[in-house]
Amino acid sequence: MKVFVNKRIPEIGIHMLEDAGLEVFIPEHENLSHEEWLNYCKSHDAILSVGGGFKFDADFFIECPNIKAIALYSVGFDHVDVHEATQKNVAVGNTPDVLSKATSDVAFLLMQSVARRASYNFEKVKSGNWGDFDPLHALGQELYGKTLGIFGLGRIGFEMAKKSKAAFDMDIIYHNRHQNEEAEKNLNAKYVSFEELISQSDVLSIHANFKPEQNELFNSSVFDKMKKNSIFINTARGGFHNQKDLYDALAEHKIWGAGLDVTNPEPIFKEDPILELSNVCVLPHIGSATEEARNGMAKMAAENIIAASKGEKMPNCVNPEVYTN
Ligand code: DGY
Repeated sequence: MKVFVNKRIPEIGIHMLEDAGLEVFIPEHENLSHEEWLNYCKSHDAILSVGGGFKFDADFFIECPNIKAIALYSVGFDHVDVHEATQKNVAVGNTPDVLSKATSDVAFLLMQSVARRASYNFEKVKSGNWGDFDPLHALGQELYGKTLGIFGLGRIGFEMAKKSKAAFDMDIIYHNRHQNEEAEKNLNAKYVSFEELISQSDVLSIHANFKPEQNELFNSSVFDKMKKNSIFINTARGGFHNQKDLYDALAEHKIWGAGLDVTNPEPIFKEDPILELSNVCVLPHIGSATEEARNGMAKMAAENIIAASKGEKMPNCVNPEVYTN
């Protein structure tokens, strides 16, 4: 089986593929145009796909009828038309669990950075403006005993809730497709409606898988209902929030602050006015960027490809129906 890997990944994954006797191709330059990417896809049997920039949509499956498997180097699969893949019998794999701790660490980091105004204060220091001790200036807020609202309490949301409970004894409320019994039992998490979630959270953190029907679900009508002291955290997908509405809510102090590891659009334009605000911390989608998580993702993506090359079920498959078609 010929495997196209569009960007270098940790060596462990490549070695696993080669040791399994697979022919691996990684292009020398990594900033492929869509045309170059598509041509490589057409001449391979499987793809280990890094990044969400190239879409596996209905056209892709028409253009690349030889593709048998797609192993994503991500847990998110919003850039794949899974229905179409299933129709064409293409197994799609992802990398859950191995990045849950790292990604929730970033949500936790953003929550604290915003609460204690870390970006604002760092900017002051960098501009030579340390300032005198001032009892009234740049005050943050404490998180102890506050309410953390989780939108999408799956693996990553659970880790975020667990850390926040342990560190700050936060009350956990959540809104999800299904109730999460483990979180209710171990973290005393309470299931609430979407309306209750947005109006009761002191910190609102998004951890759901993104679906097109949720595009810009967090917009002015939501920000208007959030508490004035609330902090909005998005480490999931930028598409969840309307960035202009978020800017307005922050600039007009309708909410207290925001921490973003994902933006809309992504990458963010350097001229985006949200970057000028002092109550915002923005990171460049580094949720899974630890050695441990990235090695785990490489291993898991390789395992998915190797299973597919043997005609076996991928260990982490988002469309297991392909095996019963
Ligand atoms: C994921 O795994 O989905 C991360 O967001 C990286 O794309």
